[in-house]
Amino acid sequence: MPHPNKPRKKPEDLRSLRWLGPDDFRSFGHRSRMKQMGYDEKDWSGKPIIGILNTWSDLNTCQTHFPQRVQEVKRGIWQAGGFPVEIPVTALSEIFMKPSAMFYRNLLAMEVEEVLRCHPIDGAVLMGGCDKTTPALIMGATSANIPAIYFPGGPMLKGNWNGTTLGSGTDVWKYWAERCAGNISECAWRQIENGIARSPGHCMTMGTASTMTSIAEAIGMTLPGAASIPAAHSTHGRMASETGRRIVEMVWEDLCPTDILTADAFDNGITVDMAIGGSTNAIIHLVAMAGRAGVKLALDRFDELSHRTPVIANIRPSGEYLMEDFYDAGGLRALMNQIRNLLHVDAITANGKTIGQNIEGAEVYNPKVILSPEQPLSRAGATFVLRGNLAPNGCVIKPTAAEKRLLKHKGPAVVFHGYPDLKKRIDDENLNVTADSVLVLQSGGPLGAPGMPEWGMLPIPRKLLKQGVRDMVRISDARMSGTSYGTCILHVSPETALGGPIALIRDGDMIELDVEKRSLQLHVSDEELARRRKDWKPPEDRFARGYGQLFSDEVTQAELGCDFKFLHAGRPTAEPEIY
Ligand code: FES
Repeated sequence: MPHPNKPRKKPEDLRSLRWLGPDDFRSFGHRSRMKQMGYDEKDWSGKPIIGILNTWSDLNTCQTHFPQRVQEVKRGIWQAGGFPVEIPVTALSEIFMKPSAMFYRNLLAMEVEEVLRCHPIDGAVLMGGCDKTTPALIMGATSANIPAIYFPGGPMLKGNWNGTTLGSGTDVWKYWAERCAGNISECAWRQIENGIARSPGHCMTMGTASTMTSIAEAIGMTLPGAASIPAAHSTHGRMASETGRRIVEMVWEDLCPTDILTADAFDNGITVDMAIGGSTNAIIHLVAMAGRAGVKLALDRFDELSHRTPVIANIRPSGEYLMEDFYDAGGLRALMNQIRNLLHVDAITANGKTIGQNIEGAEVYNPKVILSPEQPLSRAGATFVLRGNLAPNGCVIKPTAAEKRLLKHKGPAVVFHGYPDLKKRIDDENLNVTADSVLVLQSGGPLGAPGMPEWGMLPIPRKLLKQGVRDMVRISDARMSGTSYGTCILHVSPETALGGPIALIRDGDMIELDVEKRSLQLHVSDEELARRRKDWKPPEDRFARGYGQLFSDEVTQAELGCDFKFLHAGRPTAEPEIY
């Protein structure tokens, strides 16, 4: 179905023709160098050139299957009459990149935008999967705004330890706590290490990767059904070819990211995020992606939609199962059909159809994994936005992953001044901490850490683990892995490095959390806080040059998506001149 407001493109309208068509000196160079690569005019003439932006690398553990998937995408592009070119872009490896892959999300987004703009490319297949790759690819492609489709890398198979199912991240935290408590042997720990990641694909809990790929489908940037297919499944290869075939048609239809990414599409993304019990990180990425499309998403919109959306994906860390089970139970299409009445069903998607058409008739095959909205895991959504004098610009919590008794809690603060301090003192037998204490980590924000690492699930002090404590109220301006769990209050804004109230907390201050009232209060008088603020000194500049300095100068706070200020939507950047 072509876009209703756009005429179908003809070969003479192709963007790439500006490079390869004219009978002039510069185009001679472009054509002769295509021939240098062994191509003939028959290969490209009159065909859309499709850039396949591949976030593969030898250190991106989640995407080791991408070299084969690229060939499958190419096959589809050739079949549909396009000309595929593979372009490697920064592989954001969640596991290995320090200080955090998040620090580099905007770098990849910038790279994607500029790579698409500066080359003779008519359309793009965006290949991602590991956490930050999804938002970065979509952010960049949205700013470039040429036809683009996202191809999700798919979750890995379930982990296994001597017959016990293991989930990425979630079970690492769980069994690490048991190991610290002395309940797991060195040998068992090694066996878990061997069995927890046993195939290609991204984390297979409802961590940030599965959340973001699901959101990418919900906002219309993938083919229907693409997000849930396990990476090792043969259907995944077939979906790669189908994606290749579809992008060629999207070019002729001139179906661009901003045609798809409307306010309604982002509402659908938020609603699905809530229904799947998605990662808290999704809030930051959704705000950033929407910002590129010129859609303003306030934190309150998340709370509004969260309020009316039941959590119906019974997947860890909020639930019991894993992504492989979710796929077998019907996958995201089936889940969306369950909450159809909460979606804007007329929103257009990458296949040219509406989301309503795409989910029509999608059935749930296992009601234990995809629950009915009448009997959900939780009546309200996965993420709540809290405010109060401790977080004037907001903070978030994932109540479904917390111990219910802690959702209303008042206790004295135990403050850690950055991660090194936490690491040094958290297991000190003399630490003045009880199960009622509130653990506070400062300097974990976008600027302070830097890059807002996933430090927000502060470890429980070892002496309390030994007493059987497994959850406590924890507060930080950092993020938390989507695979994590616990009563963790995250993204506190303004952050420590900007002198937000979190910077002023001292040991013993009483902190009160009331999730039902969406409130987080520091029980210290305004006068005392003003006195402390006078004594507060901003941290020294960490970077004197390079990307770090650009990041420090331009990154926004969590509620604004942590995008760079100069990358928000504005007047479109002009096409490059070709001389
Ligand atoms: Fe890549 Fe979890 S480490 S998705």
